[in-house]
Parts: sequence; structure tokens; C-alpha cells
Amino acid sequence: MTLCTPPTTAAIRQAVTALAEGRLVAFPTETVYGLGADACNDQAVAAIFKAKGRPRFNPLIVHVSEHQPLEELVVLDPLSEALVQHFWPGPLTLVLKRRKGTAVSLLASAGLDTLALRCPAHPVAQALLKASGLCLAAPSANPSGAISPTTAAHVAEGLGEQVAMILDGGRCTLGLESTIVQISEGKAFLLRPGAVPREAIEAVLGQNLRPPPARATPSAPGQLSRHYAPRHALRLNAGDAAPDEALLAFGAPVPGTPVACLNLSPEGDLTEAAANLFAHLRALDAMDCRAIAVMPIPDIGLGEAINDRLRRAAAPA
Ligand code: TXA
Ligand code: MG
Repeated sequence: MTLCTPPTTAAIRQAVTALAEGRLVAFPTETVYGLGADACNDQAVAAIFKAKGRPRFNPLIVHVSEHQPLEELVVLDPLSEALVQHFWPGPLTLVLKRRKGTAVSLLASAGLDTLALRCPAHPVAQALLKASGLCLAAPSANPSGAISPTTAAHVAEGLGEQVAMILDGGRCTLGLESTIVQISEGKAFLLRPGAVPREAIEAVLGQNLRPPPARATPSAPGQLSRHYAPRHALRLNAGDAAPDEALLAFGAPVPGTPVACLNLSPEGDLTEAAANLFAHLRALDAMDCRAIAVMPIPDIGLGEAINDRLRRAAAPA
């Protein structure tokens, strides 16, 4: 049975332990309930996608405490600093350039060079962030395609056994997801309308919010692929590896003497494979080789999302 409990000090402590072990904890925010995991733990982030049954790796919002030094995670500029100043903590998510070398899982960014950050105002969310000292990757705590949950009971109905714990903070006061704004090269884009009205943001920025840049719309599948298009060609469903190829393996490697080989999961575990996907792809792409041969991945469970990403990475720009 999933533990659904009021957010007492003891319960928060228990949630911190679960998160540190890489497990999932659902927690209330002022908008909707989030399905949280340690944002720096690839396996835990992969478990989010598994629990939600997402057929694709959409990038996730990473939740931070009020005291989080943001420059460890992203690159700030005057526009983003002004928005942080005015709207945090609160229901505004900022999509900013990832800082090079940040510890946040690449899977949380779905391989993009940007990171979505939000500092929730809900006291239980803040208590959990502070007590854990973690940044929490958290999409809305519903199965993929279902409506966002605004009570702990909604979360239990939708995700049940998939979460270690649900912190019951009562009904979410806003019930509408955060507004998502991307800042890029001094311009501001509205990626998702939400709980903070456009006009309030435009007043602070002193400029109008633009429609999403075509490439940054994660809901537009064909376009997103270019973001993680590797330098090298990808050869999918490889049954062998050529001497001038790098091999992205899954399970026992296929025959051949590739330039290099990284294994998504020697045991053939799809959650582990998802956790390694973007980091391994990047590492192999940095190698001196002609192409990256990718072994077949079973198209079940998280394999579907992995294959979706691989197909896009293999598609010509
Ligand atoms: O109110 C909220 O924002 C709630 C609570 C839990 O914080 N969270 C939420 O998460 O609505 P989710 O995963 O259901 O929606 C996150 C949205 C997705 O549409 C995703 O594509 C977008 O944020 N997103 C995340 N990272 C992004 C990025 N780097 N670039 C563009 N869009 C991004
Ligand atoms: Mg959602």
C-alpha cells in the first residue's frame, strides 16, 4: 500500500529518506500535486517516466527551494532575475539555459540544453525541498494523458502503488498549472499559459511575451528532434558494430570491434536504459567515429519512449 499521510515532521523525514533512496514522492504545490524525484538521480528521474507511463520523454520541471543558488543550475540574465524576484516563490516556471556541468539529470531536460525551474510557494513543497536539500524533478502526479491532480486522493487513484509516499496537503489552492516562460537571448516566450497571467509578467519584463519559438515547443514532436540531433549519424537496430562506429548497446553487445561501446543496460533493464540514454548518447557523439550503431530496444514499457527519442535523434535535421 502506498503511504498517504498528512505532512507531519516525521512524514517529511520519511519522504526525505525515500527521495534519497531514489524513490518517488508525490507532494502538494499551490497549482497541482507533483510526482517528485531527486533531479540529480538519473534512475529516479527515469522512474517518473515509468510511473506516468509517458510514451515520450518530455522535459520535466525541476522544483527548487527558496534558498537554492540558481547559478549552480542555469545561466541567469536580467530578465530571468527580474521574474524570479517578482514571482518566486509562486506558480511561474522559467525555462533557462542549463549551466554547463550542472548535476541535474540530462533526462530531466530530455536532452535539451535548457532547464525548467520552479520555486513553489506551497509550505509543504518548500518544507520537503529544504529538508531534503534536493532539487526535485516533478511533473504533475497523474498518469500520462490524464487530468492533473489537485487532491491526494486523485494521486492515489491515478498512480497508486507507483509512488513510495503521498504527502497529503489538502486541496491545491490554484488548481491550474504554473505559467511557463522561456528566456532566451534577451527575449521572453510564453510556452504555457497558467496560474500567473500574461499581463503580470509583461508588466515586470517591460516587453510582450512572444509565442513559443518553433523549436522549443516540446508538444510539437518533429521539431524537438533537432535539439538532440547528434553530430554523428545514428544507425538503429544494429545487429553488429563496424570498426569505425561507436556502439550504444543494450544487453549483451552485438559482434564487432567498435571504436567505443557504452551499454544502456547490460542486464536489459529499461528503467536503467532510460536513465543512461542522453548521457551515453552525448558521450558517444563526442567520440571520433563515423556513426553510432544502436542496438534494438524492445518497444515495451519505457522502451517506447527510448525508441521515440532514438528515432528522432536518427532523423535528418
Ligand atoms: O504547476 C506545475 O507546473 C506543476 C507542478 C507540479 O509544479 N507541474 C507540471 O508539470 O505541470 P508537467 O510535467 O505536467 O508539465 C511540464 C511542462 C511540460 O509541458 C514540458 O514540456 C514543459 O513543462 N517543459 C519542461 N522543461 C522544459 C524545457 N526545458 N523546455 C520547454 N518546455 C519544458
Ligand atoms: Mg501535466
